[in-house]
Amino acid sequence: MTQTTFPGTTDRRIDALLALLSDNAMIVISGAKIAREIGVTRGTVWRWIQKLRALGVRVKGHPRTGYQIERVPDILAPKILRRRLQPGLIGKRIYHFFKIDSTNTVAMALGERNEPHGTVVIAEEQTAGRGRAGHVWHSEKTNGIYMTVLLRPPLSPQQAPLITLTAGLAMREAILEQTGLTPDLRWPNDLLFGRKKFCGILTEMNAEQDRIHYVAVGIGVNVNHERIPDGLAAIATSLQIETKRAQSRVEIVVRLLRHLESYYNLFLDEGPDAIVARFSKVSSYARGKRVRITALNESYTGTTEGLEPTGMLRVRRDDGRTLPVIAGTLIEAD
Ligand code: BTN
Repeated sequence: MTQTTFPGTTDRRIDALLALLSDNAMIVISGAKIAREIGVTRGTVWRWIQKLRALGVRVKGHPRTGYQIERVPDILAPKILRRRLQPGLIGKRIYHFFKIDSTNTVAMALGERNEPHGTVVIAEEQTAGRGRAGHVWHSEKTNGIYMTVLLRPPLSPQQAPLITLTAGLAMREAILEQTGLTPDLRWPNDLLFGRKKFCGILTEMNAEQDRIHYVAVGIGVNVNHERIPDGLAAIATSLQIETKRAQSRVEIVVRLLRHLESYYNLFLDEGPDAIVARFSKVSSYARGKRVRITALNESYTGTTEGLEPTGMLRVRRDDGRTLPVIAGTLIEAD
C-alpha cells in the first residue's frame, strides 16, 4: 500500500527541493537545474526558496546566479529524515506539514483511515497544539518539535499509559545522546531539567473494551527557544537554554524514532515489567518523591511509592491512604 495524501501536506516537490539543496550544501546550483530536477518552473523554485527563507533556511542567491545553502537545513522534511533513519516500521511513512492545527488530530484521522503502525506526522508549526488536561501546547514556527507517532499496539486500553512511559524513555535517551545532559522523567509524560519542563507527551487512543485499535503518541519539545514567555519561565525551559547552543531538530527526531522503535520492541518482547523497571530506575519521581496532585475535584500531597504493573503511579497520601493516581497533574511539592 502506498502512502496516501492528506490535505495540507507538504508538496513532494518542496521535499525534493530541500533534499537537493542539502545534497549540494555549499555548492551553487542554477535555478534552471533545480527546476528541471524537481519538475517545476523557475518561478516556482524562487517562490519556494522564499518560503524556506522565512523558515530560517539560509539560501544565498537568486534566479539569475543560482542558489546555495550554507548547511543542511534543519527542516523536518521526509526525505531529509528518511535517509537518516534505520530500517524499521516507525518512520517508514512520514506526513509533513509546514502548518497544521494539531499533529495529533491528523494522526487520529490517519488511524481511522487504516494508516499503518509507525506512521509519523510532523509539523513545523501548530495552530491548535493540545496538551494534557485541555491545555494549549504553544507551538511556534520551527523552534520546536511537534510530532505524533501512530502506533497499533496489541494491548488492552488499560495498558495504554505504558505507551506514554515507553515514549518518554525513548525521548530521554535521544536527548541524553544528543546533548550529553540527562533529563528527568516526571510521571507519566514530562521530561524535565531540574524542575523545568521542555518536553510533553500526549497519548490519545481509539479502542474497544479489551483492545486498542490505535494510539496517537504526540510529542512536543522546546528545542531552539531562546527565551520562555514570562508566565512560563519558572516552569519551562528549552534545549537551547539548557545547553547554551542551538540544537538540530533533525538529529533529535532521528534519534527519538530509533529509540522509540527499540523501546517499543522491548515492550512487546519482554512485557510491561521491562518498561516499568526501566522507568522506575531513571525517574526521580517513581519513588520517594514529595508530590502535589491536582485533579478536577481535589488537590492533595503525598509521597510516591513506585509504579504498578500497569504503569500507574502509587502515592501514599498525607492522610495515610496509598492509591494509584488515576487523574490529575503532578508536580514536585515544596
Ligand atoms: C503535555 O505535556 O501536556 C503534552 C503536550 C503534547 C504536545 C504535542 S505537540 C505534537 C502533538 N500535537 C498536539 O496537538 N499535541 C502533541
